[in-house]
Amino acid sequence: MINPLAPETLIQLADQYGTPLYIYHTEKIKEQYQRLKTAFEKTDAVFFYASKALTNINILRYIKNIGANVDCSSINEVKLALHAGFPASGILYTSNGIAFSEIEEARQLAVIINIDSLSNLEKFGEKFGHDYPVGIRLRPNILAGGNLKISTGHDKSKFGIPVDQISMVLAVVKKHNMLIRALHIHTGSEIEDADVFVKGIEILFEITHHFPDLEFIDLGGGFKVASKPGEKETDISLLAEKVSSAFARHPYKNGKPLKIWFEPGKFLVSEAGFFLTRVNVLKKTRAVTFVSVDSGFNHLIRPMFYDAYHQIENISNPGGPLKNYAVVGNICETDTFAWDRSLNEVREGDYIVFRNAGAYGFEMSSNFNSRFKPAEVMVMEGKTHLIRKRDVFDDLLRNQMPLPLIL
Ligand code: LLP
Repeated sequence: MINPLAPETLIQLADQYGTPLYIYHTEKIKEQYQRLKTAFEKTDAVFFYASKALTNINILRYIKNIGANVDCSSINEVKLALHAGFPASGILYTSNGIAFSEIEEARQLAVIINIDSLSNLEKFGEKFGHDYPVGIRLRPNILAGGNLKISTGHDKSKFGIPVDQISMVLAVVKKHNMLIRALHIHTGSEIEDADVFVKGIEILFEITHHFPDLEFIDLGGGFKVASKPGEKETDISLLAEKVSSAFARHPYKNGKPLKIWFEPGKFLVSEAGFFLTRVNVLKKTRAVTFVSVDSGFNHLIRPMFYDAYHQIENISNPGGPLKNYAVVGNICETDTFAWDRSLNEVREGDYIVFRNAGAYGFEMSSNFNSRFKPAEVMVMEGKTHLIRKRDVFDDLLRNQMPLPLIL
């Protein structure tokens, strides 16, 4: 196991680059990728990093260099991936509810495409017929994932074509003689139970015989990482064992086994990320002592949006007595990072670190309250590199069009 960054290193980075600051430890990303590769060695699974978790161009390049492919959810993510040097053949574009023109653009860029609606499937078939292979995202009607906000495979989810509409899918495919190369599902994020993936596979295996050109089964992402000490993560070895034995039971198509694809986001980058803040104000009230840090849900929205738990530490006073606090932000709206959290005694000016901040941290940040977005730093082979500058005032005005009329 890669050692997490030491508190002294984090403090040094905070002194050097200021706070709030996102820090990514690349060796941890590599370790997570190698864990997946090792576990799935026998099945030769291919991993497409779900770039929506963190798209800094340096992180994308690093992930390309360690050998992963990339999964994109928008045409701009596709363009970022190309910019980072991924070949088009290693870029998967899983569209959801988007305009057909964006799918056409993806086709022009020659990336791998998954389509998630009958309407776009029909348009794709009409335009490209048998000329361009495509994957279909299905909704298996399974409830999976950490909570409802991050569950995407259940029968009220907007994602994918419901598997119960398979006859309509087949009619479109037949009408346009389409070349269907992959079937895709992604049932949610933070899925601990390996059997959920097996259930998805079984549902897909009931329909694979309809698709003679099928080569890939894409099981999406959603592996759970531990966010509390001692919490369970998805057992990757068990998952690999169960998935490969499910595939071994399935008859080969045209003498060739179906290949397995995954799209991990959190699993690759969550634990590699640290979010570093500084205490602005300590406010003692009758019921609660508030620690107000120089950030808020504008920079890390996960606790407020998903009730996500992030481990929090006061790295400036590791030996201090444990006390209970509410850790809050400094924006003009309730933005609680954690209630009733035990921390080493906090003083104004102390550095407070949030763990598991690599996935959907910076990526979901905003300029709410006209605050600057944080800087990002990458720690690679013991060296630190600034990979995104903190916003400056001009960034708040960029793209605004001051009207002479109202000067
Ligand atoms: N593939 C597809 C099609 C997806 O929609 C997602 C995530 C992934 C792969 C990667 O899932 P992961 O391995 O990261 O769980 N913002 C939320 C998570 C939303 C995930 C959205 N889709 C959070 O911060 O918990």
